[in-house]
Amino acid sequence: MTQFVICGGRRMQGEVEISGAKNAAVAILPAAFLVDGECRIENIPQISDVTLLLESMRDMGAHIRTVNRTAMDISCQALAYHEPGPALGEIRASYYFIGALLGRFGEARVPMPGGCDIGVRPIDQHLKGMRAMGAEIRVEGGFVCAQARGGRLHGANIYLDVVSVGATMNIMLAAALARGKTVIENAAREPHIVDLANFLNAMGADVRGAGTSVIRVFGVDKLHGGSYTIIPDQIEAGTYLAAAAAAGGDVLVRGVIPRHLFSITAKLAEMGAEIIDLGDAVRIHTEGPLHCANVKTMPYPGFPTDMQPQIVTCLALAEGTSVVTEDVWDNRFKYVSELSKMGAKIQVDGKTAVVEGVEKLSGATVKACDLRAGAAIVIAGLAAQGVTRVTDIHHIQRGYEDLVAKLRGLGAEIREEEIPEETEVGRSLA
Ligand code: EPU
Repeated sequence: MTQFVICGGRRMQGEVEISGAKNAAVAILPAAFLVDGECRIENIPQISDVTLLLESMRDMGAHIRTVNRTAMDISCQALAYHEPGPALGEIRASYYFIGALLGRFGEARVPMPGGCDIGVRPIDQHLKGMRAMGAEIRVEGGFVCAQARGGRLHGANIYLDVVSVGATMNIMLAAALARGKTVIENAAREPHIVDLANFLNAMGADVRGAGTSVIRVFGVDKLHGGSYTIIPDQIEAGTYLAAAAAAGGDVLVRGVIPRHLFSITAKLAEMGAEIIDLGDAVRIHTEGPLHCANVKTMPYPGFPTDMQPQIVTCLALAEGTSVVTEDVWDNRFKYVSELSKMGAKIQVDGKTAVVEGVEKLSGATVKACDLRAGAAIVIAGLAAQGVTRVTDIHHIQRGYEDLVAKLRGLGAEIREEEIPEETEVGRSLA
């Protein structure tokens, strides 16, 4: 097992290139099941969630050819129905296989989704939508088993009781090849929803209104091949901006769509960082301590929950007291106990954290509890005085491509190294 070792306290300086969006890629790759032809998908992030997903697709008979480091040709032409293996259940996005397989084959048996432990993560809205479209669905033995009555789904009017990214995209997948029109009301509006719609439309689907809260999908009989480039990852970009804000510095975050980052850059500016929008890049410059600010997470275009731990780390080093409200997930403050080991002063009460800024954090051995919590801990390590060791980094590798190399390019002292055996024994006994 490996860990990150960070010698903190260095200002960050330089440029970082942002990879393709994880939460778009994990829906667009299974969307290739719907395509009767070959799709070239570019800007695929090199992260472990994507590796696992592609392995599952290969095992199910998809032909996947590597074009270059971030581009693949995927062909699911003439594919017969195959069940995904249980390993797929390790990632949250396994649920997109339900919509894609039901849409293409009229059946799906998919392991219940895993993913980060950030609260109860039901998929009732996904299943409600697919039931309305004519699917019979049972959950048994840890699998979702779905069958379209008559072999093909039909269009339906679906109102989502909660604004759900996953349910919106899953219903779009299921609806692309369904008979007739599907309307999704109270749909999520995240950039990756628009990206999935653009991918489907590039392959011949008819999806309208993505990016608004009403999406209409006019089912077509077939999708054809084509090529598509995944959007840049807004959360990866936000994470580097937060790192520069917490540790101090002058960083150019390249290859981004600044308007996708607006809620993040506006908050960093409110905290005293200088932000410059350069069209396809954002520059951040910070001098001196940040100021406190209140943050509430919300569906897009609100402040993203996937940036909450990183912004809390910035606020832990800001002047004054901030209140952070987590309004999407019910248990996304678990990492606070790790930040406390580094000297942060944060009180959590349910979905609210009161963050009293301190002058400095100090290095410690801390754990990445989940993907974004792990990113937050790394940011704390970069800003802290002394050495921080971050364990359980597999969580971070699920969603950040080349984190160590990218941070080193910004002048950070960070390396990945084996955890010495005696420490591992100690840890497993703890
Ligand atoms: N919800 C329901 N029923 C459902 C679906 C969701 O009650 O059927 C609730 C959830 O419990 C939650 C809220 O609705 O309280 C929003 O959940 P959503 O469905 O939007 O989340 P998700 O699709 O499972 C995706 C991202 C998460 C990100 C959320 C919110 C993927 C694979 N995951 O999850 O990303 O936090 O949207 O933006 O796209 C991450 O990248 O670190 C991550 C956790």
